[in-house]
Amino acid sequence: MKIVVIGGTGLIGSKVVDLLKQQNHDAIAAAPSTGVDTITGEGLADVMVGTDIVVDVSNSPSFEEKAATDFFWTAGKNITAAEVAAGVRHHIALSVVGTDRLQDSGYFRAKLLQERHIKSAPIPYTLVHATQFFEFLRAIAQFSVIDGAVRLPPVQFQPMAAQDVARAIVDVALAAPLQGTIEVAGPEIFTLDEPVRRVLALDGDPRAVIADPAAPYFGIAVSDRSLAPDAGARLGTTSLDWWLANASTPPAR
Ligand SMILES: NC(=O)c1ccc[n+]([C@@H]2O[C@H](COP(=O)([O-])OP(=O)(O)OC[C@H]3O[C@@H](n4cnc5c(N)ncnc54)[C@H](OP(=O)(O)O)[C@@H]3O)[C@@H](O)[C@H]2O)c1
Repeated sequence: MKIVVIGGTGLIGSKVVDLLKQQNHDAIAAAPSTGVDTITGEGLADVMVGTDIVVDVSNSPSFEEKAATDFFWTAGKNITAAEVAAGVRHHIALSVVGTDRLQDSGYFRAKLLQERHIKSAPIPYTLVHATQFFEFLRAIAQFSVIDGAVRLPPVQFQPMAAQDVARAIVDVALAAPLQGTIEVAGPEIFTLDEPVRRVLALDGDPRAVIADPAAPYFGIAVSDRSLAPDAGARLGTTSLDWWLANASTPPAR
């Protein structure tokens, strides 16, 4: 089958493309660096010709509200138009567990706009809501530094390996469209501060990670279950311990 992976050069997208190729599918990584731009439309109609399935794991280059809104809105319209013209049968997009509960954030308002567009578009769809990737833990730490320490609210947190996200997306992409949303999450429940503390310890980063109930998450207030999946979420198999020991690449010092 021909499967176009928009954002197929990114963290999740490159893994999705590899997994699909291992199953002998004609998987195409579509991104500006491969000549496909969902904002300008460059290369989009051409890459869609003969495509059965589209996986969208692209991301806005900026998390600022206006930039992210413009990105997901324009990309959504352009992708749908190209899919309709090509007769695509299934559109899969990656979003975040709790997007509807994180609406004080401009980025998550933009993600919700993306989801609403997909739900109202004529192409059969499946939305995949994932929890935070292990690979995102360092970015969470970086964003949460106050006076030299990392302060995070100790809310429920069930992060997962990017490889498990990619596996779930491939399973969903090759199944019938759900016309709905599935959740995927990691196999272990922590509080938000714990895995961040573990990854900084691995890196030899001396900054303290403080569990502070009043601290924001990416600038917004969160409650205990804001980031948590529902009971029916599909779980990845990669533990934090395994990932830290085998797959985490500490930053160069
Ligand atoms: N971070 C998390 O913990 C988390 C959790 C759940 C869900 N998500 C969602 O996961 C998705 C993917 O995240 P990621 O970390 O894999 O992203 P990423 O590594 O930043 O990759 C982004 C991809 O989007 C592509 N892209 C950017 N602008 C484009 C354009 N105009 N046209 C086509 N492609 C474009 C990039 O292409 P180039 O390589 O050419 O720049 C790249 O392939 C996001 O939608 C995010 O909301 C993230």
